Amino acid sequence: MFDVVIIGGGPGGYAAALYAHNFNLSVALVEKDRVGGTCLLRGCIPAKTWLKTAEVFTTVQKAAEYGVQASNASIDWNAALERKNRVVEGLVKGLGGLLRARKVDVIDGFGRLAAGGVDVTSGDGSVRRLEARNVIIATGSQPRAIPGYGFDGNRVVSSREALDWTERPQRVAIIGAGAIGCEFASLLGDAGSEVHLFEMLDQVVPGVEPEAAKALTRELKKKGVNVRTGVTVAPAEVHPDRVIVPFGDDSVEVDKVLVAVGRAPVTEDIGLETTNVTVERGFVHVDRATMLTDEPGIYAVGDIVAGTPQLAHAGFAEGIAAVTHLATGELAPVDYRAIPLVVYTHPEVASVGLTEAAAREAGYGVEVHDHGMRGVGRAIIQGEVGGLVKIVNQVDGPILGATVVGPGAGEIIHELMYSVAWEALPAEAAAFIHAHPTVSEAIGETLLTAAGRSLH
Ligand code: NAI
Repeated sequence: MFDVVIIGGGPGGYAAALYAHNFNLSVALVEKDRVGGTCLLRGCIPAKTWLKTAEVFTTVQKAAEYGVQASNASIDWNAALERKNRVVEGLVKGLGGLLRARKVDVIDGFGRLAAGGVDVTSGDGSVRRLEARNVIIATGSQPRAIPGYGFDGNRVVSSREALDWTERPQRVAIIGAGAIGCEFASLLGDAGSEVHLFEMLDQVVPGVEPEAAKALTRELKKKGVNVRTGVTVAPAEVHPDRVIVPFGDDSVEVDKVLVAVGRAPVTEDIGLETTNVTVERGFVHVDRATMLTDEPGIYAVGDIVAGTPQLAHAGFAEGIAAVTHLATGELAPVDYRAIPLVVYTHPEVASVGLTEAAAREAGYGVEVHDHGMRGVGRAIIQGEVGGLVKIVNQVDGPILGATVVGPGAGEIIHELMYSVAWEALPAEAAAFIHAHPTVSEAIGETLLTAAGRSLH
């Protein structure tokens, strides 16, 4: 009998498994593939590794601007793919070692909820029952398809296959300009591919501040990416050697189509129908304070959870919340108000808390302040001035949200994470001194303006 059996070894599941050692729980982690999940094996980690290759390439291409001579830069796609695989392998191995060190029983097979625990079907078809006091479901998500764009593993693919392309596609259409679509557009544009990015809504990365979307669009266009927003594509014509993507009265011909229109929860065939777990359009309903489903003893975390962000770091936090509750009965609820979102394009786009529009919609009287990177010394030194900082605060009240576009935005957003989570007043946050010269000074400047006393 295990204290907890976890189904799914991605960020939500493995975080829960690792965290359980704090309470001396006996843990089984059931995984049908390797541990690591989408994030580590075919998502965040490999994508960011490719983005790093693109960044190094563009840095070398632009070396002369910095007074450095380097000629004939080119990407050795296979070497880059191998590096991506090495990065992933290293992390998977490290995670395996950590799970062993924490005495987590990693069980290879497909987990299904069963009376009193979880049934695990192994590759040879045999079934083993794991008895459990508690179960955490962390089965994650998979790429969504759209009509007319069935995945064929070759011409029409999801990010999963695109991360393993063995050569750089010359011409690519990307459907959907969310985080995945924009990151691929950025890296393929930098790598020299002809990229067509299609977004149904009226801006890239819908949900982020329009100013940030505009800045990102401008930078993507500089890379040669054809950004088309407010456009719906008609079904693709897939030929053996090319694909035609029609839209309106026009069309583009490409070698590959990457569909990145969101991710669907993986909740089929895991025995949910045998329980009282409520499933809403495939997502699992939970109590957000505990991560408990409607079935006592069964928790759910990560991408399958209804209404919470599909982000690895949200999954980690939900895993911790679930384990804390099942071990102690105490609450460690995730603070969803202050989960940073980072889009690792070049430049990066990072946000936390409410956008101006979301804050107004929530009924706040709102003030906004922004500051471009153009006058920021460190951004000029880095040769990356196409960004901005925008801070949203309540009138005479705390900081509600913030957005940063620029070099290292994904790192420097975290100071604003604290401001939002701790409900800092602009004047309180502005009282601290940022090092000079840093990109973060743009945040300091924006805070000063928000506090009513601008400097530059
Ligand atoms: P997404 O939900 O972020 O974006 C999908 C985009 O596709 C939306 O902008 C949507 O309007 C658009 N779209 C939907 N149907 C369309 C159609 N028929 N034609 C044109 N556009 C269409 O989903 P995405 O990018 O696939 O990512 C999946 C999940 O993974 C998201 O929750 C995302 O936040 C997460 N993720 C996060 C990353 C990060 O934090 N850096 C990186 C990659 C993924």
